[in-house]
Formats: sequence, structure tokens, C-alpha cells
Amino acid sequence: MSEPARDFPQSFVFGAATAAYQVEGGIENDWTDWERAGKTRTPCGRAVDHWNRWEEDFDLLGAAGLGAYRLSVEWARVEPEPGRFDDAVLARYRAMLEGLSRRGIKAMVTLHHFTHPRWFHQRTPWTGAASVEAFAAFSRKVAEALRGRVSWWCTLNEPMVFLLGGYVAAQMPPGLKDLDGFAKAAANLMRAHLAARRAIREADPGVPVGIAHNSLGVAPLRSVSPLDRTISRFAHDLYNHAVPRALIEGELRLQMPLLLRRKEVIDGARGSLDFLGVNYYSRIHVGAKLGAPWLETRYVDVARRGLTDLGWECHPEGFGALLEQMKAYGVPLYITENGLADESGERRSAFLYDHLKVLATAMRGGADVRGYFHWSLLDNFEWLEGLGPRFGLYRVDFQTLARTATPTVAWLKRVAQTGRLATP
Ligand code: FCB
Repeated sequence: MSEPARDFPQSFVFGAATAAYQVEGGIENDWTDWERAGKTRTPCGRAVDHWNRWEEDFDLLGAAGLGAYRLSVEWARVEPEPGRFDDAVLARYRAMLEGLSRRGIKAMVTLHHFTHPRWFHQRTPWTGAASVEAFAAFSRKVAEALRGRVSWWCTLNEPMVFLLGGYVAAQMPPGLKDLDGFAKAAANLMRAHLAARRAIREADPGVPVGIAHNSLGVAPLRSVSPLDRTISRFAHDLYNHAVPRALIEGELRLQMPLLLRRKEVIDGARGSLDFLGVNYYSRIHVGAKLGAPWLETRYVDVARRGLTDLGWECHPEGFGALLEQMKAYGVPLYITENGLADESGERRSAFLYDHLKVLATAMRGGADVRGYFHWSLLDNFEWLEGLGPRFGLYRVDFQTLARTATPTVAWLKRVAQTGRLATP
């Protein structure tokens, strides 16, 4: 009897993702100050102590049958003072990458995942041109230190999330509400990607360089309202398309009626993504609201699947629609994050199944998706929410730091090993 057809080709990689600040522990950076100012539910502190337990954690990747790992390098560790790079830290990251390669696991390395060294916002803020060279210098150092061990470089994680959080909603450092600053920082982040890409290509030629981009389904709060429909159209364009369009077609277009209207050609940006990383979690509903900031966003449980522990809608259909749109950019895609906060550990496999099913369908329809990284390998520090929401394939006891497999591990392992989707 012949084997049933695969849903994912042999070359497709299954992996898991983390970010330095969220797992390593013991980092002092702009986010630590943010915690001390009382802006997060808990401090990060030792997080889940991945800085000391990485060997054990990499064994967990292997035990889950995963062949790839997305991690980030913490800028504040690497360059604690402007221009002073810590060789011991770079050596540790190199040892980690060697640990992955010993286990036959490919690495995707992210350079900017929301956090900065303390000095950054004072000396070279993203609103100023000097930020671009500062990021490029850091990227060059890291690429020189880690070359030969990285399968994919990811310059920026979710630049639009960082820009909205940092410059519009004041929810992340630098904590501003400044639309002009938002637009300037957006342009400089695009230039920073280009400068970093150039530096990486010199130091580590031939390795693809992309970004991880957060995408969301977007729908009008009141579908009968022409105003809400217009707003949702603009929100969708700004959130989902402004960044990939800038780095693939070369023009940064930021528009929201009555609030923002910027168009800028970013020199050299055209064709500057070797791959586009797509992060997908949920869908939001948006509409008009009386009084600043005039916009309202909400998660709605339309299909009654139950919201996640963070109150996010489960909406795999939106993932399919976005994959169709991202496919049109004509660059290889990776799913660089997807997952849910699930304390029980009982809902993750079904969520994953639904999203992988949509992904397999999109690929059959011609979407060139080369890999999937689950967020996350481990429970970790979730930014504003602190050490609480559980995104891990492995549950972490935040007191004892013991790691325990959730039921999803065995199921995902089978999918990864066979390339076939079985119902959980
Ligand atoms: C994404 C972030 C990641 C994690 C997940 C839940 O927006 O990139 O660090 O917090 O959300």
C-alpha cells in the first residue's frame, strides 16, 4: 500500500521560537526600566533562566522532533555601552549556536526583538538618523561572531508592533504618543534593516536575511457602519502591509484617515527581503470611537471557539487570507510565530491543527512557505503581562523552573516527523 500524501514537503522545517529577553533572565535593558516604572504585571527577573539552561532546553527541541529554532540576541548584553562589545557574551551565543548545530537543529537569529540597551533611546533614538548606524554596527559584530552557524538572519521582529507600542500607544519603551515620531522611527527602522542586511551579507554571505512581521485579521466592529469599514481597511493596510510593502516594493506608506498620511521612498529598500517571516495569532475588530484616539479595537469571539487566555480570538481563517496576500509579494515565506496562551495545555493541539491545516491548504494553493516556528518552545515572560500567560510547548514552573512537556509535544513531533497532519 502506498503512503498517504504528505501535507508538508520533506524540506519543510518545523521549529519553535523564543526571544532573548523573554527567556534568558538577568538582563538589564530599557524593558527592565519599564518594569521598574510599574508598567508590567510582573518583572522579568530570571525569566526561565534559559541563559544557564540552554543545553537542557535544546534537548527539549530535539525531544519534540523539531529541526529549527528561532532565538534572538540581546543587544543590551552584546553592547552594554555604545561601541563596547562584550566578547564573552558573543562567545556564549556562539556556543549556543554550536549546541544547536551539534543536535542537527538549524538556527534563525533575530537581532531586534523589542528591547534595547539602556543608552539607546537617549543617544541614538529611532527617530534620528544615528539609530541606523548604531543598529548596523551591532548587527555587524553579531554577524561576525556567529557567522557560519546561522541558517536565517532576521533583522527585526514585528517592527509595526514595536512602532505602535513604542510611539503611538505608549505601551513599550520609549513610551511615546507621537505620530510624527512614529513615522520617523518607521522610516529609520526600514533603513536599519537595509544597513544590517548589508553588514550581514559582508560578514556571513549567502545566508538569507528577512524580518518577522506580525499580521492580524482585521474586521470592522460594526459591519453596517461605512466609517468602521473604512477604518478597518486602512488599519489592515497599515498593520499588515506597510512594512512588507516598504521592504519589497520600496515605498513606505503610512495612512490613517484624519491622523496620518505619509509616503516615502526608502532608498535601496526594493527587493530587500530574502524571506518574509509571518507571525499570526488572531483577528481584531476595529471601529470609530468618540474622543481621542478615535479608534477602538476589540477581540470578538465570532465563531464561539472561546478566546485564548489573553482574550484573543482564535481565527485560523484570517491566517489563510493573509497567507494569500503575503504570497503575492513573491518572496519565500516562513511562519516565524504562531501559538496561543493556554494555561490548561489542553487547547494548544487543536489550535495548532487548525492553523497548520490552513497553512497546508495555502501551500497547495501555491504559497511558498518553507517552515513553521511555534511560539513558543517554553512558557516565558510575556511583555506587559509578565510571567503569567503560558505559550510554551513545554510548561515551565516559574518557581522551580522545571520544564514539563504539554500534550502537544508528542502530537507535533509526529506531524514534524511524518509531514502529515493528523487530528490531535
Ligand atoms: C509576539 C511577540 C512575541 C510574543 C508573542 C506572544 O507579538 O513577537 O515576543 O510575545 O507575541
